[in-house]
Amino acid sequence: MDCSYSYFIKLTCTFLFIFVVPTTSQNSKCPFQYLYHFGDGVTDIGNSVRVFPWGRSLPATRLPYGTTFPGTPTGRWSDGLIDFDFAAADFGVPQITPYLSRNASSSNGVIFSVARSPVLDHNFFKSRGVKIPPYAVPLSVQLSWFKTHLKSICSTPTECADKLGNSLILMGDIEGNDIGYPLTQGKSIIEVQTYVPYVTRAQISATREVIKMGAKLIIIPGNAPLGCYPYILTALPSNDPTAYDDLGCLKSVNDLITFKNNNLQQAINNLSREFPNVSIMYGPFDEGVLAVLAETSTDGNITLKACCGIGGKYNYDSKSFCGSGGVPICSNPDKYIFWDGLHLTHEASARIERILIQPALSTLNCTS
Ligand SMILES: *[C@@H]1O[C@H](CO)[C@@H](O)[C@H](O)[C@H]1NC(C)=O
Ligand SMILES: *[C@@H]1O[C@H](CO)[C@@H](O)[C@H](O)[C@H]1NC(C)=O
Ligand SMILES: *[C@@H]1O[C@H](CO)[C@@H](O)[C@H](O)[C@H]1NC(C)=O
Ligand SMILES: *[C@@H]1O[C@H](CO)[C@@H](O)[C@H](O)[C@H]1NC(C)=O
Repeated sequence: MDCSYSYFIKLTCTFLFIFVVPTTSQNSKCPFQYLYHFGDGVTDIGNSVRVFPWGRSLPATRLPYGTTFPGTPTGRWSDGLIDFDFAAADFGVPQITPYLSRNASSSNGVIFSVARSPVLDHNFFKSRGVKIPPYAVPLSVQLSWFKTHLKSICSTPTECADKLGNSLILMGDIEGNDIGYPLTQGKSIIEVQTYVPYVTRAQISATREVIKMGAKLIIIPGNAPLGCYPYILTALPSNDPTAYDDLGCLKSVNDLITFKNNNLQQAINNLSREFPNVSIMYGPFDEGVLAVLAETSTDGNITLKACCGIGGKYNYDSKSFCGSGGVPICSNPDKYIFWDGLHLTHEASARIERILIQPALSTLNCTS
C-alpha cells in the first residue's frame, strides 16, 4: 500500500491515513524497524486530544485543524501533516500511532509526544510561578508511557533490548515549551537561561535511560528558533528596531535558543563518550525552520504571521486561538509557515522534511 500525496488523490489517502502516511518521496529502507518519538505539539499526531478529560475540548479536535489534509481534524496541531509523518514515510516505517490510541501496541512507530508539553515536570514550573496547562505531559511521564508500551511488546530485558536495538529513538523536539511558557508569562531571558541546564540534564537523563534499555540509535533535535514564532513575537513586542534580525525575528530569544541548543550539543557529545557504541545525533531543527523562513521572507506579509488566527501584527491572539469561533484562516495555508502561531503548516513541515530529513537519510544508512 503506497500513497503519494497530492490533492488529486486526497480522498483515497484520507481513507487510509491512519496506516499509510502519504509521502512525496520514495520509501527508504533504514537499518531499523521501529520508531519511537518523545515530544510536543511539533510531533503530536493525536495524543493531546486523547488526554482525559481535557483533550476532547482542545482546539486540535476541531476544524480548521486538518483542513488541508485529510479534511478533518486528526489530533495534529496543523492544517495537515507534521514533520514526523513525512519522516516516518522516509524511514519506511509508515505505521505510526499515538500512544494513547488503542492500536499502539500493534504498530511499529509510536508517538509519545503531547502538544504543549515541556521537558521539565510540573513542580519545576510551579516553584517558579510558571503556569503549565493540566493536559501537558512532561518528558518523565512520556518516558513512563514508553516503559508501559515496552511491556506490551516484549517480555524480558533481552527481548526488549533487541527491539530497542532495532529502533530509532527521536528524543524531542520538546524543550520549546520549557522556554515558551516562562517567556510568555513575563519571565526575563536571563531567568529563563538559568532553566537551560535543568532542561538539558533532563533530556540527557531520559536518553541515558533508553540507552540502558537497549537503544542504539538516537536523534535529539534541538529547539526551534522561537524568536520567529508569532506567539513569542506577540508576547514580547519591542519598539526598538535593532531588537529584530533581518527576518524580523527577536534576536534575544533566538540567542537564548542558540545558547540552549549549544548546551544540548555539548551534553550529547559528553553522552556519546559515555556510550561509544551508541549513535547519538543532534538534529538541527532550528536550521530547518530558519531555512524555510529565509525562502519565504520575500513576502513580509506572511512570513511571521499565523495562517489561522486573528489580531495584531502577527495574526495571533492567545485569547482568540485558532479553532475558536470567529477565528478566520488564510486562503492559502501552503504559502504560510506558521499555522496557529505555535505550530507549522503542512507545507512548512513538508519543506523542512526536504531540507533536514532527506539529507539525513544517508547518515542513518537508509537506502532508497
Ligand atoms: C486498530 O487496528 C485494527 C486492525 O488492524 C483496525 O481495524 C482499527 O480500525 C484500528 N483502530 C484505530 C483506532 O486505529
Ligand atoms: C561536558 O563535559 C565537560 C567535561 O566533563 C563538562 O565540563 C561540561 O560541563 C559538560 N557539558 C554539559 C553540557 O553537560
Ligand atoms: C562496544 O562494542 C564492542 C564490539 O562489539 C565491544 O567489545 C565493547 O565492549 C562495547 N563497548 C561498550 C562500552 O559497550
Ligand atoms: C502586504 O500587504 C499590503 C496590504 O494588504 C499590500 O499592499 C502589500 O503589497 C503586501 N506586500 C507583499 C509583499 O505582498
